[in-house]
Amino acid sequence: MTSSRPSGRTFPADFLWGSATASYQIEGAVDADGRGPSIWDTFSRTPGKVLNGDTGDVAVDHYHRVEPDVAIMADLGLQAYRFSISWSRIQPTGTGEPNAAGLAFYSDLVDRLLAAGIRPVVTLYHWDLPQALEDAGGWTSRATALAFEEYARIVARALGDRVHLWTTLNEPWCSAFLGYASGVHAPGVTDPAAALAAVHHLNLAHGLAARAIREELGEDTPVSITLNLHVTRAASPAPADVEAKERIDTIANEVFLGPLLEGAYPERVRTDTAGISDWSFVQDGDLETIHQPLALLGVNYYSTGRVQHGTPPVGDGTPGPDGHRSSVVSPWVGADQVEWLPQPGPYTAMGWNIEPQGLVDLLLELHERYPALPLAITENGAAFYDTVTDDGRVHDPDRVAYLHDHIDAVGEAMDKGVDVGAYFVWSLFDNFEWAYGYDRRFGVVHVDYDTQVRTVKDSARWYRELVRTRTIPT
Ligand code: NOJ
Repeated sequence: MTSSRPSGRTFPADFLWGSATASYQIEGAVDADGRGPSIWDTFSRTPGKVLNGDTGDVAVDHYHRVEPDVAIMADLGLQAYRFSISWSRIQPTGTGEPNAAGLAFYSDLVDRLLAAGIRPVVTLYHWDLPQALEDAGGWTSRATALAFEEYARIVARALGDRVHLWTTLNEPWCSAFLGYASGVHAPGVTDPAAALAAVHHLNLAHGLAARAIREELGEDTPVSITLNLHVTRAASPAPADVEAKERIDTIANEVFLGPLLEGAYPERVRTDTAGISDWSFVQDGDLETIHQPLALLGVNYYSTGRVQHGTPPVGDGTPGPDGHRSSVVSPWVGADQVEWLPQPGPYTAMGWNIEPQGLVDLLLELHERYPALPLAITENGAAFYDTVTDDGRVHDPDRVAYLHDHIDAVGEAMDKGVDVGAYFVWSLFDNFEWAYGYDRRFGVVHVDYDTQVRTVKDSARWYRELVRTRTIPT
């Protein structure tokens, strides 16, 4: 794949360049220092759930390699590092007294980052719910949102103002719909009504945590949430196809944007899902709690989707715009009149289509709707089947082209007036890619899973040059 956009665009001096990871995907050390089991430990050990039976037991062993890993970040010139905290290291059963060793691990990481001049961007929840909370209902239960508030408070107290930006949740769409509707993610539940309850309790958890963090650290504390908003195209301007697109927008995007940014679930959310749930889990005052001021909205972007009016066969395996295949129940709860169409390539190793224009469109649309809301690209990147070649290097021109074109797309949106302040490449290291295990490599740093040797890929060298010069290299 070669780049389809011009090079040479320069970004503002205060634009923040970083890279992102998540706890279960990189840490390993699942039994270390009092960590309790999470739903991903359980799920990945369940036969048939993860490709090749892979688990996060060892991952890239980051838990034992913080010092050299931070040195790699510094060598790449990263200005910020977005990582997530494993709730079950902090509270092994999801509630109760904090585990000092778990807090010490993250406190040490934060100190090392700061010493290296790298700003810590903390995500409190990147999908690894303590198993004990799942046993009590998980995100279908209001109690999980209340527990999350307490957990957020504990972490806020421990890390305090050393954190540059707090993110409550990463991609709650995945937690709710892949976790509780299609079941391709932990906890592997296939119950559409449960997915809708999870949506609301995740939203509530965000609001409770945002409020708690600010109670602990002050009203000005920067708090955000990261969403994987879906960019879906209608196959034609025919009203039925446009209606199909709007159904996806509603269930993928509006269920979060509405309550988080506008303080209400749009009426369509309830009508489109009327046969599935009466939404009686929404209690008085919840929407006010959810609707907290955001320092910025985190945007994760990978690809686009296309739909038309039609009825998909149940469990047809059609990739959605996030590339996740429906297995038993479609994650598209309330979208039974929608048929997904294949997108034209090129594709990444995930089978996701590469369309930088989708990122421009998404950013422009968000800016139009919420002109005062700053945005950050909290994830963007691509999986390819990389190998270390005889010269000891990893040549990944397709990833370089992908990053080049998407970063250029961010610049184009900024030229058009969108307030974007940061970009985080996904991911720093090759890692545990959820249901795809270690098969798909997203890192700009290659990891040999037998030896744990890290090799900086060409894409990381390219990114280092970008960060150094603030200019997209040719
Ligand atoms: C989104 C998720 O936040 C991250 O964990 C995942 O690895 C990437 N997308 C790629 O699928």
